[in-house]
Amino acid sequence: MYVCLCKGITERQLRAAIAEGNTEFKQLKCELGVGSQCGKCVPVAMAILAEENAKTPLYYEVA
Ligand code: FES
Repeated sequence: MYVCLCKGITERQLRAAIAEGNTEFKQLKCELGVGSQCGKCVPVAMAILAEENAKTPLYYEVA
């Protein structure tokens, strides 16, 4: 599914870029150009980003 029609960015490309370490929106914008034109894709891109970031714990508990 296309997330960003202006730049032709798919959900798969977005998730791959996040998996490669682009865990902030500004990084995705620099890397792929998502949200850099009309901006209509920003809410969906942010939702995907939040979903992917939620899969990765931000900290590790030390016993
Ligand atoms: S749809 Fe992404 S910038 Fe326009």
